Amino acid sequence: MTEPRPLLVAPEMSVDQTQRETMKHQRACCIWLTGLSGAGKSTLANKLDQTLQNHGFHSYVLDGDRVRNGLCQDLGMSDLDRRENVRRLGEVARLMVDAGLIVIVSAISPFRADRDACRTHFTPGDFIEVHVSTPLSECIRRDAKGLYRAVREGKIRNFTGIDSPYEEPLAPEFVIDTRTGDDSELVDQLLMLQRDLLTV
Ligand code: ADX
Repeated sequence: MTEPRPLLVAPEMSVDQTQRETMKHQRACCIWLTGLSGAGKSTLANKLDQTLQNHGFHSYVLDGDRVRNGLCQDLGMSDLDRRENVRRLGEVARLMVDAGLIVIVSAISPFRADRDACRTHFTPGDFIEVHVSTPLSECIRRDAKGLYRAVREGKIRNFTGIDSPYEEPLAPEFVIDTRTGDDSELVDQLLMLQRDLLTV
């Protein structure tokens, strides 16, 4: 039997997200990159981070592979563990947005319901879902980490897109196909979001 949740009363904090955003001269938000392994999420996250930093914004990348070496090192690749991985990423991202940061999450995050659950933690507009839609055939062709080959050799099971499901977002804010390099619209939109705030 699981223990009942303790009764908690969250203390009021006198510094809020708006004050932290004002201090940093930026609008905090979470840009959530979802897609298959090898789709190009980490490359895009890095590019966005670099672009934002170049414009003087304070951003941070939460990458699935990296977080799995620390915060989520107790988790594997079962459906349940992936759900917990995504839940934790969502919680950390929410805290970082509360701290005034532009957070870029890069994780397969294969289940629609889990991504949608993360979205509910954010103020509408603060959660920008980006489907990095590179098709499986192209991810297999690239195979930058040699993981698809390992799957073929029977060394890895439960691999997303092969023998573990990936549920595409139904209404993402952006769809980016890394084969065409059409990420400039996302970058423009992000900078616009920031300019809107700065001109208030
Ligand atoms: S998620 O499904 O829980 O969101 P996450 O993005 O954190 O996954 O981690 C996926 C990374 O783990 C991939 O980029 C890949 O390098 C590695 N990996 C190892 N095993 C698997 C697997 N079975 N399925 C998908 N990715 C795997």
